[in-house]
Amino acid sequence: MKITLSTTRSIEHMPALLVFMEQGAAVEEQLKEQIALYPHIPLLLNEAKMQGKAGSGCAIPLIKGDSLKWLIITGLGERHKAIIPVENYRRALGKAIKLLQQHKIMSAAVYVPDASLFGQTKEYIIKQTAIIACMAAYRFDEYMSNPECKVPQDLTLEFILMPPAEELSKSLKEGMIIGKVVNKVRHWIDLPPAALTPIELADKAKQIADAHHLKITVYDEPEIKAMGMGGLAGVSAGSEQNCKLVILEYQGGGKGAPTLGFVGKGITFDSGGLSLKPAASMETMKDDMSGAAAVIGAMEIIAQLKPAVNVVALVPLSENLPSGTAIKPGDILRFYNGKTAEVRNTDAEGRLILADALSYAVKHYKLDALVDLATLTGACAYALGPFFSGLMSQYPALVERIQLAAESSGDRVWPLPFDNDYKKAIKSEVADICNIGNGKYKAGAITAGFFLSNFVEDVPWAHLDIAGTAFEVPDISYYSSGATGVGVRLLVDLALSWK
Ligand code: BES
Ligand code: ZN
Ligand code: ZN
Repeated sequence: MKITLSTTRSIEHMPALLVFMEQGAAVEEQLKEQIALYPHIPLLLNEAKMQGKAGSGCAIPLIKGDSLKWLIITGLGERHKAIIPVENYRRALGKAIKLLQQHKIMSAAVYVPDASLFGQTKEYIIKQTAIIACMAAYRFDEYMSNPECKVPQDLTLEFILMPPAEELSKSLKEGMIIGKVVNKVRHWIDLPPAALTPIELADKAKQIADAHHLKITVYDEPEIKAMGMGGLAGVSAGSEQNCKLVILEYQGGGKGAPTLGFVGKGITFDSGGLSLKPAASMETMKDDMSGAAAVIGAMEIIAQLKPAVNVVALVPLSENLPSGTAIKPGDILRFYNGKTAEVRNTDAEGRLILADALSYAVKHYKLDALVDLATLTGACAYALGPFFSGLMSQYPALVERIQLAAESSGDRVWPLPFDNDYKKAIKSEVADICNIGNGKYKAGAITAGFFLSNFVEDVPWAHLDIAGTAFEVPDISYYSSGATGVGVRLLVDLALSWK
């Protein structure tokens, strides 16, 4: 993706123009220059019944002599309390990029709408435009042999601003960094589980650390065992691959600057282990490292955008497979902080690897906030569906920051009740806690959250369950069929807005 800023409204050098239409508003005003050259535009617009409804869009051919260009118009929908929600714009842009790809058009001019339409700043709108243009163009097609199955992803766009404003190039650059890394994260998630094992993802983190001068520590399986990380080592016991614990550190603040901790679940394939999943539930379990990928990606962006905070990212990586060496229901594991858990179900493995990573984080860093991201429970996916990640925390100030970051970034979250009443659900008769909730308490997303709460001491901590939002989210035009990269935009926003 190449994006430049332009201040000239002529599009004669471009094969297409993208324009956004508010519902019920006339676009003719925006298209004055084009209508002067192509007088048939109003007729064709009328014919296409384009009214600017959210989700609508059309591609209108512009013909002069033997030259063909395209006018692509998508709908922004209606104002709500005097403004159009930014998410409408994200989706209208996503739709426009998909229309470009369908027509195999490689480059286009974009009339970036006025920021006041959304009640936002120009900087914010340019940044969102760049992020979403990148995200919408992404498709996982590297294993497709037939070129006809592919669409152009490396588009060249020219953002035309009204009124002209060249000082926005910083926002453009930031948006492109974010959009490109979100797609890189999606690519890692979309890779087949044989192509992305713990060692491969750890290597990607190493490359990023080297390229952007982040401190990196990678613990290998023997060290993980020696440190007493029985959760991570236990989950890895059934796999022939070694598990890893990757720690990335960014130093952006001076002395006394706040330090944030990010932890991401990195199960590169979740079969369920001996508590084997049914075939259908296993189909998409290559996505079970989405939290880890998002956290590593967020660090790559943070290293480039340089917010004035310190950030440490901890990523436990393992496969979860059944074998003669796998942990068994009934086994008891001891974690890095000394606590023990009875494993009643080997498919509740995410909390076991997170327990060690969270314990390590709170022991070795003085954290102002700790946020973990995990494809943790089917229960959360059922409770909230694919559009909101579950947010669990007992720290209202942190909840508020996360909600604001979610709103501004587009990675939406919804709080679940996280009351101590649920705590008893994970009591065990034989160990400190049990890795599955007692059936009487139901609420599997929340009881999983309370399992994790045993490993964070008194650090302000929030848990995000992204089981429903990480993969195969329907109807959102700027996603495609596989990974969404959920969490990257949110964590970056959180770090950039931390004060
Ligand atoms: N990785 C799964 C959760 C998941 C489900 C992620 C669907 C994405 C989509 C997790 O490890 C798991 O299997 N959880 C179990 C927990 C249960 C055994 C208590 C679940 O949700 O069924
Ligand atoms: Zn599982
Ligand atoms: Zn899992």
